[in-house]
Amino acid sequence: AIDLTGRHFLKELDFTADEFRRLIELAAELKAAKRAGTEERRLRGRNIALIFEKTSTRTRCAFEVAAADQGASTTYLDPVGSQIGHKESVRDTARVLGRMYDAIEYRGHGQGVVEELAAHAGVPVYNGLTDEWHPTQMLADVLTMTEHSEKPLDRVAYAYLGDARYNMGNSYLVTGALLGMDVRIVAPSLLWPDNTIVELARQLATASGARVSLTENVEEGVRGADFVATDVWVSMGEPKEVWDERIALLGPYAVTMDVLRATGNDAVKFLHCLPAFHDLGTDVGREIHERHGLTELEVTDEVFESEHSVVFDEAENRMHTIKAMLVATLGAR
Ligand code: CP
Ligand code: NVA
Repeated sequence: AIDLTGRHFLKELDFTADEFRRLIELAAELKAAKRAGTEERRLRGRNIALIFEKTSTRTRCAFEVAAADQGASTTYLDPVGSQIGHKESVRDTARVLGRMYDAIEYRGHGQGVVEELAAHAGVPVYNGLTDEWHPTQMLADVLTMTEHSEKPLDRVAYAYLGDARYNMGNSYLVTGALLGMDVRIVAPSLLWPDNTIVELARQLATASGARVSLTENVEEGVRGADFVATDVWVSMGEPKEVWDERIALLGPYAVTMDVLRATGNDAVKFLHCLPAFHDLGTDVGREIHERHGLTELEVTDEVFESEHSVVFDEAENRMHTIKAMLVATLGAR
C-alpha cells in the first residue's frame, strides 16, 4: 500500500510515478464523494498555514475549500501581512509555524525558500508555486487529462507551447517524463527549460518509457497531440520590460484554431493553468493592447471559449487534487 503520511510536496519528483498516480486516483475518489454527498471529513482538527508571497486565486481558494470540506482550518498569510522575509528569517518562520500548524503551503519566488521551510518546519510543506515548479498544478492537469481521454496516461500525448524556462514548462516536462507520457515542449530554443531539467527528463523517460521532445516547430510539435497546453508569456515576479521580447519570440507559438487543427485530432483538448490573457478585460490586457496593439496573447478567445477548452475543469480540479494531497499527507496518523 502507498503511504504518503508526513511527506512534503516541493516538486513533482518528490513522488514516484506510483505515488503520483495514487494521488490522482484519490482525487477522483474525493471528487466523486463530494458530488455524491458522501465525503468523509478526514482532517478534523488539523490546521494549515497558507503563505502567499505572490498573488493567487485558484491555489489559495483550492487549499481553503479543500481544507474546509475535510474539517481542517486554514490561516492565510499575504505578501505583506507577516514578518516572513522582512523581519524574520524563513528558518525561524518555519520553526514557529511548525509548532502551531500541521502543514504549511508556500507560494513565492525561489525554490530554495520552500526547501528551507521544509527543512526546518517539522511538518509537511507544499509548494503552491515557485519560479521553478508548480507541482500542485500538475496534479490537476493530470487528473483533467485522465478525465478527458479514453486512453491510459502512458498513451497520452501533450504539447506545451510558450515560455518553457519557467515553472509551467519545467513542470510539464518532468511530469510527462515521470508518468511515461508523450510530452513535447514547443518553443523557441531560447525559452526551453534549463539543460539540467531536460537531462533529468530524459533520464526519467528511459525508466518510464516516456517520449520527451523539444522543438521550435509548431506543426511538428503538436502533430497527434491529445492535449495542447500553454501559459502566460510573462510570469509573476518577472519585470515588465520582458514583454517586448516575449511577444516577439512567442507570437508564433500562440494557441490558435490553426494550431489545434495541426494536431490532426478533432477531439484535441486545450489546457491552461490560468489566469489567461485572452481578452482586454484585465489590467494587463489593457496595457498590452495600449502598448502593442494586441488583443490576444498566448491563446485566442476563439480557442479559449471553444468546445476544445477544458480550462475550467482543470481549475476545479485544483481543489480536488489539493484535497487529495492534504488527505494523503495528513489524514492518517
Ligand atoms: N493556476 C494557478 O496557480 O492560479 P492562481 O495563480 O490563481 O493560484
Ligand atoms: N507561470 C505563471 C503561472 C501562474 C499560475 C506564473 O508564474 O505567473
